[in-house]
Amino acid sequence: MSDWQKTNWRDKPRIQMPDYMDQDVLNSVEAQLGKYPPLVFAGEARRLKTQLGAAGRGEAFLLQGGDCAESFEQFSADGIRDTFKVMLQMAMVLTYGAKVPVVKVGRMAGQFAKPRSAPTETVNGVELPSYRGDIINELAFTAEARMPDPKKMLQAYTQAAATLNLLRAFSTGGYADVHQVHAWTLGFTESDKAEAYREMAKRITDTLDFMRAAGVTTETAHTLQTVEFYTSHEGLLLEYEEALTRLDSTSGKWLAGSGHMIWIGDRTRQPDGAHVEFCRGVLNPIGLKCGPTTTAEDLKILMQKLNPQNEEGKLTLIARFGAGKVGAHLPNLIKAVKEEGANVTWVCDPMHGNTIKSATGYKTRPFDSVLGEVRDFFGVHQAEGTIPGGVHFEMTGQDVTECTGGVRDVTEEDLSARYHTACDPRLNADQSLELAFLVAEELSNLRGGSEAREAV
Ligand code: PEP
Ligand code: CO
Repeated sequence: MSDWQKTNWRDKPRIQMPDYMDQDVLNSVEAQLGKYPPLVFAGEARRLKTQLGAAGRGEAFLLQGGDCAESFEQFSADGIRDTFKVMLQMAMVLTYGAKVPVVKVGRMAGQFAKPRSAPTETVNGVELPSYRGDIINELAFTAEARMPDPKKMLQAYTQAAATLNLLRAFSTGGYADVHQVHAWTLGFTESDKAEAYREMAKRITDTLDFMRAAGVTTETAHTLQTVEFYTSHEGLLLEYEEALTRLDSTSGKWLAGSGHMIWIGDRTRQPDGAHVEFCRGVLNPIGLKCGPTTTAEDLKILMQKLNPQNEEGKLTLIARFGAGKVGAHLPNLIKAVKEEGANVTWVCDPMHGNTIKSATGYKTRPFDSVLGEVRDFFGVHQAEGTIPGGVHFEMTGQDVTECTGGVRDVTEEDLSARYHTACDPRLNADQSLELAFLVAEELSNLRGGSEAREAV
């Protein structure tokens, strides 16, 4: 892209980014990051793009998940391991339902910067700048903590590098062996669904045992012992993104070296804004959140800007409308995609349109709303003859109490017990796995439906 430079976003209107007070410190941090190695490589980003292209055609399925906001304080090897492990278990369940490979992408190793609904927050009459994620300022409600500090970018880079190092080790060092992760730990009680899930889990386990007994130990076994695991985050803090952008010598194109996939949030997708300007020039696969205020007209402009060559896998549209609202918005956007003949991969984020405040004062998401939006998403795609290509969840491997409902039925009163998120409420390990079973069911119905259609 000859007219693009990694600094051009600086001439465009920017929103949701901090105003750093000390320009000298900012400059020195950017210079330092500019000398550090990229966290990911161009070949990996291209490979993910190919796999997302397959998801767009229904030949693979994307599972994207992780924290709303990664935290400096809660950073630990166990936390990374547990989320990675639950994602592998979910992927196994989804593979069973979809009968296609599952592309695994963490909201990890860079998911630090947060857009906020208001620039300031008032508590007991005191007004301070909003918390914008650990890469920018601190959660504590003091003037000092809320001051944006450029040096936090260096800590974010270090944490992202350490996270990625561990993920790479888990992916190839034996930990990802499917035979290690099928200890299904669901706390399922006696609902009808629980029985169906136990049955599915048992069939998956039996299949794995059968393969082992049948001596599938050579090349195929290798495939089962290692996984490809990618990283992603919202490309919000453009000083950080720019500083890690590198020229790929093989292709002569620019790589956002901060993560394999970056996405544009629902609040920063203005076609002429800084975030779209930055993202349109990098070779990475790009995600675009689509919410109730996304118009068909804007979407057409954005598809043209973000994927001018109409490459498969380049652009993932992440729908986040809210349960009960999908039917009012998604068909219109699907129509825009069809009119343009655009290649996109449609993914459902059932989290961000379903956030409510509980009677006990916590930000939460009812499991049934999350599930409802996933069902609506599948329903609309079935009606439109288009492909549901994946799901995007805020989730953790920890046993938190942040979203209500699920088989263990977290109540509003339970939320205070283990509410640890630095930002939005996440599904806990049980809720994540339960959702995977439900999505698997939708996928196998879809598949059953299309096989039935082919048969007539
Ligand atoms: C997010 O993914 O954490 C987020 C802020 O989403 P959205 O931009 O869709 O609101
Ligand atoms: Co969030």
